[in-house]
Amino acid sequence: MTRRTGRPAGAWVATTVLSLALAGCRGNQVIFNPQGPAARDIAQLGWFLFAVCGVVYAMVLVALAWALLRRRREDDQGAGATRAITRTVALATAVTAALLVVLAATSVTAGRGLTSPSGPGAITVDVIGHQWWWDFQYRDVTPSDVVSSPNELHIPVGVPVVLRAQSRDVIHSFWVPNLHGKRDLIPGVVTSLWIQADRPGVYRGQCAEFCGYQHAHMAMQVVAEPMDAFLAWIQRQRQPAGDPPDQEALRGREVFLQSPCVSCHTVRGTIAGSRVGPDLTHVGSRLTLAAGTLPNTRGHLAGWVADSQSVKPGNRMPPNVLTAGDLQAVLGYLRSLR
Ligand code: CUA
Repeated sequence: MTRRTGRPAGAWVATTVLSLALAGCRGNQVIFNPQGPAARDIAQLGWFLFAVCGVVYAMVLVALAWALLRRRREDDQGAGATRAITRTVALATAVTAALLVVLAATSVTAGRGLTSPSGPGAITVDVIGHQWWWDFQYRDVTPSDVVSSPNELHIPVGVPVVLRAQSRDVIHSFWVPNLHGKRDLIPGVVTSLWIQADRPGVYRGQCAEFCGYQHAHMAMQVVAEPMDAFLAWIQRQRQPAGDPPDQEALRGREVFLQSPCVSCHTVRGTIAGSRVGPDLTHVGSRLTLAAGTLPNTRGHLAGWVADSQSVKPGNRMPPNVLTAGDLQAVLGYLRSLR
């Protein structure tokens, strides 16, 4: 009975483990699912290291099993046996040293490929880390056309995008596993890297350097889209906020502009122009709120504005001062900012 049920149970465990392991190689925020050239180099290096280490591990286990199972022989203490052991140890040391050199060379080669400058035609985006959100600023020769897209990096597919990364407070780390490796954002230093996406998609990224209480809620979305769609998006983002579409939004704008919200946020086209918190000019068009913490729906926005400290404790947003009616009007206004 045990034998008959033992085998299917073992098979079930093996299948589960294998499918979980393979599931780890697909999907979003996974280094083994590369969607761009830099990520591909990293994934190949990862697989190579995995294969070499796997073979070494298996050989060590075989050697260990052989040593444990073999019978003691009479001449084990003899001069011949000592010579054989010395030869084996010397050979193993030489193979280990050679493998380490090969691994180091592969790693350095992959690293150089990742840091080499991209070709012409690339667009440049400034990545600015804050506790605990990301600002992506698209440069333009006209200062009023500089676009800020908090927590959402839009890129055209198939072309390299240069990112110039810096931090306003502590060390953060930019990491979108499907597209590139980690790159630290260090206060006072501008580092650059380039990413490229092969095909359209939304790739999740995450701050990869512990930066305080809400480090875990410092995520971002990278939206890769065809060039036409990207250009249309940036054109829309360059527009200042439009007029409120209805009475509720109109009243919401009035309330918003008289509230403490304006001392931290920008809504281009209004008097709100502070750069402490994220730019809200097109907040209604974004996928998430609070750096990937919540989906961008009216309900979640309500919860966030009403009591952001219970959603993301320690974040820089002060407590809500709006009455219930004013809050609804402000929600209507913010949702209309698309
Ligand atoms: Cu920013 Cu961790």
